[in-house]
Amino acid sequence: MTALVEGTGALSGSMGTVVRPRSAPETGCPVTGGRPAAPPVPQPVDPDEARTFLEQFYAETSPMVPLDRRLRQVFHEIATTGTYRHTPEELTFGARVAWRNSARCIGRLYWNGLRVRDRRHVTEPAQVAAECVEHLREATRGGRIRSTITVFAPDGPEGPGPRILNEQLIRYAGHRTPDGGVRGDPRYAEFTDQVVAIGWQRPEPLGRFDVLPLMIAGTDGRPRLFDLPRDAVHEVGLQHPEFAWFADLRLRWHAVPAISNMPLVVGGVQYGAAPFNGWYLNTEIGARNLADTDRYDLLPVIAERLGLDTSSVRTLWRDRALIELVRAVQYSFDEAGVTMADHHTESERFLTHVAKEESAGRSCPADWSWIVPPVSGALTAVYHRYYDAPDPDARPAFLPPAS
Ligand code: ARG
Repeated sequence: MTALVEGTGALSGSMGTVVRPRSAPETGCPVTGGRPAAPPVPQPVDPDEARTFLEQFYAETSPMVPLDRRLRQVFHEIATTGTYRHTPEELTFGARVAWRNSARCIGRLYWNGLRVRDRRHVTEPAQVAAECVEHLREATRGGRIRSTITVFAPDGPEGPGPRILNEQLIRYAGHRTPDGGVRGDPRYAEFTDQVVAIGWQRPEPLGRFDVLPLMIAGTDGRPRLFDLPRDAVHEVGLQHPEFAWFADLRLRWHAVPAISNMPLVVGGVQYGAAPFNGWYLNTEIGARNLADTDRYDLLPVIAERLGLDTSSVRTLWRDRALIELVRAVQYSFDEAGVTMADHHTESERFLTHVAKEESAGRSCPADWSWIVPPVSGALTAVYHRYYDAPDPDARPAFLPPAS
C-alpha cells in the first residue's frame, strides 16, 4: 500500500510558495502572511557550546577517543565547515540529556532509556514523513509504548534543515462550524485552517477525531502535506468501568503523544526536526484534552449523563465528572493494553528520579505547575515540595517551538 498521500493544492500560483491560511489572523511578516515563520539563517556553531557539551559527555560516559583529540577534531571541523557532526553516541547522549533537562516533564526517570533513531541524512519532506510514520509504528508496538526520538538533518551553515510544523505527529482537526464553534479539537482550529489552505481535503462528514496530516517543510521552507496511514495511528475508544452509556459518547484518543515542533539543541547544533514521544499520563487526556473548556469541554455532557446537579459550582459537579472521565481514560487504555501512567505512580517515580539525580551530584530543576497533576494534586507527593528553578539556558535541551 502507499504509505503516504501527499496533499496537493494551492501552493504555487501567483503567491509562489506563500501560504495564506483562510481565516487565521495574519500576524507577523506582511510578506509571508500567516505562514509559520521561516527559521532564521543559522549561525556557525559556537565552539564554546561544542566544548561544554563534549566535556559533559566525557564526564558522564567513557568514549574511546580521548577528549582533547575529539575537541581538536571538532574545532577544526567548525573552523572549516561552520558546524560539526556528532558521533552516534554523542547524539544519543545529547537527546537523552535534553529529556533529563525538561523541567516540565514528570516522566524523566527513564531518560536514559530513550531510543534514538538517527536519521540525520534525511531532509526531503516525503522521506521525513515516511520516517515519522515508521517512528510511530516502532514507538507504538501495538500498545507497549517505547520512548523514542527520530533526529533529522540539523540546521547548517547553508541553511535550515527540515521542519515539522505540526505540534505533535498525531492530533485531531478542529473544523470551524458556521455557528462560530469548532467540531473536533479547538486547539488545532488554526492549524486546520492552514492545512486546508494548502490543499488538505477535510473528511466527509466532519468528525470530532479526524487525524490531521503532517505538514513538513524541507530545506526550501516550502510546506507540504502527508496523510498518516490509518495503521500508524493507534487509538483507544473510551469506555467506563461502570457506566455503559459512556461508550455511547464515542470518545477516543490516540495512544502516542509525539511532540514534533521543539528543536533539539546539542553542543551548539540545532536539530529543527526531532520528534519525540513518551507515553500518556491519564490526566493529560482525561483532565485536560477532553475537559478543558477551550478543548473538548466534555464535563457538562458527562455531568448530565451522571445526573448531577449542575445549578452551582458548589455542588462540585465538575470535580465529580472530571474524576469519572479520568477513570474512563485510565480504564480504557488498560483494557486496550496501551501503556499509560497514572498520576499517583508517576509522582512517586518522579521523586525517585529527583533523588537519583541528587545522588549523581546533579540538581533536578522542575516546573512545579507542570509537574503537579491537574487532579488530586495534594494526594501526590510531588505537590508537597518545591524544586530547583528551571534554567532556560540548560543544554542539551528541547527548545520552545519557533512561532
Ligand atoms: N499533554 C500533551 C497531550 O495531551 C502531551 C505532552 C507530552 N506528554 C507525554 N506524556 N510525553 O497530548
